[in-house]
Amino acid sequence: MSEHTPTSGQQALSALLHENRRFDPPPELAARANAQPSIYEEAAADRLAWWAEQARRLDWDTPFSTVLEWDLPDAKWFADGRLNACVNCVDRHVAAGKGSKVAFHWVGEPDGDTRTITYKDLLEEVSRAANALESLGVKAGDRVAIYMPMIPEAVVSMLACARIGAPHSVVFGGFSAEALASRILDSDCQVVITADGGYRRGAAAALKPHVDEALEQCPTVRAVLCVRRTGQDVAWIEGRDHWWHDTVETASSTHQAQSFEAEQPLYLMYTSGTTAKPKGILHTTGGYLTHVAATHRLIFDVKPDEDVFWTAADIGWVTGHSYIVYGPLANGTTSVLYEGTPTAGGRDRWWRIVEDYKVNILYTAPTTIRTLMKWGEDLPAAHDLSSLRVLGSVGEPINPEAWMWYRKNVGRTRCPIVDTWWQTETGGILITPLPGITSTKPGAAMRPFPGISAEVVDNEGKPVGNGEGGYLVITEPWPGMLRGIWGDHDRYVSTYWSRFPGVYFAGDGAKKDDDGDLWLLGRVDDVMNISGHRISTTEVEHALVGHPSVAEAAVVGASDETTGQAIVAFVTVKGNVQVENEAATEALVDELRNTVATTIGPIAKPRQIILTPELPKTRSGKIMRRLLRDVAEHRELGDVTTLMDPTVVNMISEKMTAGGEDEA
Ligand code: WT7
Repeated sequence: MSEHTPTSGQQALSALLHENRRFDPPPELAARANAQPSIYEEAAADRLAWWAEQARRLDWDTPFSTVLEWDLPDAKWFADGRLNACVNCVDRHVAAGKGSKVAFHWVGEPDGDTRTITYKDLLEEVSRAANALESLGVKAGDRVAIYMPMIPEAVVSMLACARIGAPHSVVFGGFSAEALASRILDSDCQVVITADGGYRRGAAAALKPHVDEALEQCPTVRAVLCVRRTGQDVAWIEGRDHWWHDTVETASSTHQAQSFEAEQPLYLMYTSGTTAKPKGILHTTGGYLTHVAATHRLIFDVKPDEDVFWTAADIGWVTGHSYIVYGPLANGTTSVLYEGTPTAGGRDRWWRIVEDYKVNILYTAPTTIRTLMKWGEDLPAAHDLSSLRVLGSVGEPINPEAWMWYRKNVGRTRCPIVDTWWQTETGGILITPLPGITSTKPGAAMRPFPGISAEVVDNEGKPVGNGEGGYLVITEPWPGMLRGIWGDHDRYVSTYWSRFPGVYFAGDGAKKDDDGDLWLLGRVDDVMNISGHRISTTEVEHALVGHPSVAEAAVVGASDETTGQAIVAFVTVKGNVQVENEAATEALVDELRNTVATTIGPIAKPRQIILTPELPKTRSGKIMRRLLRDVAEHRELGDVTTLMDPTVVNMISEKMTAGGEDEA
């Protein structure tokens, strides 16, 4: 793991200081928790039977008779069963008499902009949208791209696709037109659902213009369905573009759903890997829904008839798919759906939402916790947060300081914190404490969920002992696992199943402490984690090299107090490009940052770009990223003797200290 030491020294040290601290589950919560202590043994005694029992909590039109067909690395779960994901998330709750129950308390970013959507409302909307999609010619198996703000229509669109068996591919609204186009093309989507724009950080941002730009490259897209959200002017192509209010709102509110086989593709979610091309992660229906429903119920201890659940994430990422849409709805839960980012709408917006809607369970990312932490204890202290019972964290390793702050100031030392480890690929949570059973430690994800088999192994694939670190692997298939990478089975095999034969390689470093509890340490590959968003170094390098002035680029993730990691780029310009003075340097750096924003999206803008005459390379010509990371994190430089030209790194180092870090 030496090339990729995942945590900064400081973080590792503070983890050590907290390692012996542990908190037991609160007795009142434990007494009536959904998961009781016997659960681990029950699942271990017969893993497949245990998962089958979880699956039977769903409604199957044709019950399954097989649980797992495993032809490494290809899995089929509940293969001969048939069901409809949307019916499981919506219709069955209405049929059970819960039509008037709230599915979503939607909170828009502009203050006072709210909507309440009951399960009956959801059924009607989803039925209309399914009818509308069918009238646009969408059939089972067709891919539909969704590029939307966090509005109820986004959830309705996903469910409508699921209802008619058309896999959706949600693209985060913060991605650029180019990023959207490449995703549409890769999976050959024929319909795009979008909005004129959305509210982000206090302003109306445009979405439809990005779609228009993207579609210049995507001739096979024949229809665009557009929600009016902000009222801004948009260009319109007659015949291709359809307003949601003309098409969906006028469609029939009843729709007869058919069932699909359990392995019917449910959605694609693109995520960054170690190359410039994002991977279309494929999830299917029966196993995925089983996994997200079971984890949601047991990890967050959700009581559907009492609780208000809030995953503060965007549906553009897998967290939103699994724990805003499919898991909570399969369990008939009432959720908060908040349009804005935590930093928008006032610094106490979050606490007002918790107070107003009496949120019982809050699930968010460490980067947000660190931002709230910077704003101080007074803001949460000024609000009634007594409704909270369980707190969750996801997306990146949580540093013990943030964990302790979350516990004290948000959970008021009463709420257990579940640090949940998973990935786009895993579909749902795999490593986590269970709030009524497992003791928690600040910074540890603790143990595999019941029915999940994980290990930490060394370079040779041998399990490490307690107190040792290595690579996280999953040793048995699980129901929510990805079924492949769209159109690229070889890449599926080589990325996940080849590093250690026979087991799933997660790409994360992990450690077992002296008690055998698991600590996740961050990525061991060239994937960065910026505010919980996954971005590959190669993707950013690729974007930079796309600029006509750039000769070479090397990108590293440097640890950052708020965002976890931040992007630092080292760039050399082409011989014929003159950058004479500071103003010219600044102008070029600005231009390069914008190039990254338009190629990938604003989330991938480097915090810092260093122009340098040369990059440090080994004699064989390989860029030494380890050194660049040392430079970016202002560390003492390691061994430079293998460098072709050791003076290069000193030069870069000087530039780094000369330039400020406040460009972002
Ligand atoms: C990567 C997956 C899971 C939904 C959001 C991110 C990191 C995720 C944790 C955690 C330490 C974590 C890993 C993983 N990660 N959760 N609790 N502790 N690291 O999904 O974009 O697919 O990213 O996020 O490095 O590999 P993703």
